[in-house]
Amino acid sequence: MRTSASLCFAVLAIAAFVSSPTAPAAAQIAPTPAPKPAPKSTPKAAPVTAATPPMGWNSWNFFAGKVTDKDIRAAADNLVATGMKDAGYIYVNIDDTWEGQRDADGVLHTNAKFPDMKALADYVHSKGLKIGIYSGPGNKTCAGFPASLGHEEQDAKLYADWGIDYLKYDECSFTGDVLEKQAPGDKPAQMRLMVAAYEKMGHALQATGRPIVFSLCQYGWDAVWEWAPALGGNLWRTTGDINPRWDRIYAILSQQDGLAKYAGPGHWNDPDMLEVGNGKLSLQENWSHFAMWAMLASPLLAGNDLPNMKPEIKAILTNSDVIAIDQDRLGRQGTRAYSDGEVEVWTRHLSGGALAIAVLDAGDARYSTHPFHLDLAKLGLHGPQKAKDLKTGNDITLTPNMPIEIASHDTLLVRIPSPK
Ligand code: GLA
Repeated sequence: MRTSASLCFAVLAIAAFVSSPTAPAAAQIAPTPAPKPAPKSTPKAAPVTAATPPMGWNSWNFFAGKVTDKDIRAAADNLVATGMKDAGYIYVNIDDTWEGQRDADGVLHTNAKFPDMKALADYVHSKGLKIGIYSGPGNKTCAGFPASLGHEEQDAKLYADWGIDYLKYDECSFTGDVLEKQAPGDKPAQMRLMVAAYEKMGHALQATGRPIVFSLCQYGWDAVWEWAPALGGNLWRTTGDINPRWDRIYAILSQQDGLAKYAGPGHWNDPDMLEVGNGKLSLQENWSHFAMWAMLASPLLAGNDLPNMKPEIKAILTNSDVIAIDQDRLGRQGTRAYSDGEVEVWTRHLSGGALAIAVLDAGDARYSTHPFHLDLAKLGLHGPQKAKDLKTGNDITLTPNMPIEIASHDTLLVRIPSPK
C-alpha cells in the first residue's frame, strides 16, 4: 500500500511535469495534435463516502452481546421519533453477536437473534436510514462469533446483497489466528500481515460496487492513520475501547493530540463511539464528551438506550450547533492550543473562516477563587471577539485574558463567526 501511494505520487509528478510550462524543448516541438471534439457531458465524480464524519447509532455500548433484530428496529424507529435522524444520525449499526454459522459453501448465516438480515436492512432503509454491520479479519470476532478470515470476498458480497452500508472490521482473534502463528515474535512482520488483511477486505468491499463505509477497528496500532486511507478506510479507531467513565473518556481525548493532520473528508480518526447517556456520567461529563468529540471531527455514533433517552441527553445529542462543528465541511480536526494546569484550550478551524474554541476543565478542584483566564493572544486573536456559547445558545463576547469559571469536567464551547 505504501508502494501504491508512491506510485500514485510518481504518476502525479509525471503529469505535473508534462503539463508544466517550463517543460523542455523536446516537448515543445512535438506536432500539435488535432483538437479532440469536446465530450458531450463531463462524467460526474463519484461522491466521497463519509465526506463528513459518519453519524448514527451503534448497538455495542448499550446492548453489548444482547442486541436483537427487535432492538435494531426500535433504534431505527427512535432515531426518527426523537428527531435524531433529522439532526444527522443516519447509520444504525449492528455490532458484534449477530453472526450464526457458515454453511457447506462457506456462506455465513445470521443467528436466531437476527432471523432475516435482508428484511432488517429493508426496514431500516424504509425509515430513510442506513445500516451497518460488524466482522473482523480473524476466525472469530471479539465476542467469539465467526469472522471473515478466508471468506472476505464472500462476506463483502453478502453484505452488499443484504444492502449493508457500513462495516466495522475488528482485529480481535486475528492476533492469535494469524499474527502469532505466521510471524511469532516478529512485530514488523505481524503489522504487515495486519495491513494486508485490512487491505483485503477494503478491496473486497470496493469490488461489490456498493458504497460501504469501511471502519477499521484495530485500536490504533502501528500508526493506522498513516495507512488506512490508501486501502479505502473511512475511519479508524485510534485507541482501545471507550467506557462510560470520565477518566477513560479523557484518556482517549488526550491520545488524539497530534492526529489532526490525518483527518479529512472521507477519512477520519475514530476515538470510539459515544457514551453520552450511559453509565454514571454527570451532565457536564456527557456534554464535554460530546463537545470534544465534535472538536475532534469524530464520527458521532451514539450508543445509548434510545427508547429511554432522558430529555437532557437528547438535548446534548441533538445540539445542532455542536453537530455543525463536527460536520463542518472543511473536515479539519481540532487541536489542543494550550493548557493551564488541568484546563485545556482546543481550537478548530471551520469553513467560512469561523473558529470553534473549547475550554475544558479536566480537573476536579479549580474554584471561583482562582478562575481560569483565557489568553486570546495565544490563539492568534486580538481584541474582543463576538461569539456564540453553544451550550446556552447565548451570544457572548470573549475579551483578552477574561476570567472564566468552568465547573469540574465541564466545557465552554464557543463559535466565533469572524475571528479577529
Ligand atoms: C471490541 C471493539 C468494541 C466492540 C467489541 C465487540 O472490543 O473495540 O467496540 O465492537 O469488540 O465484541
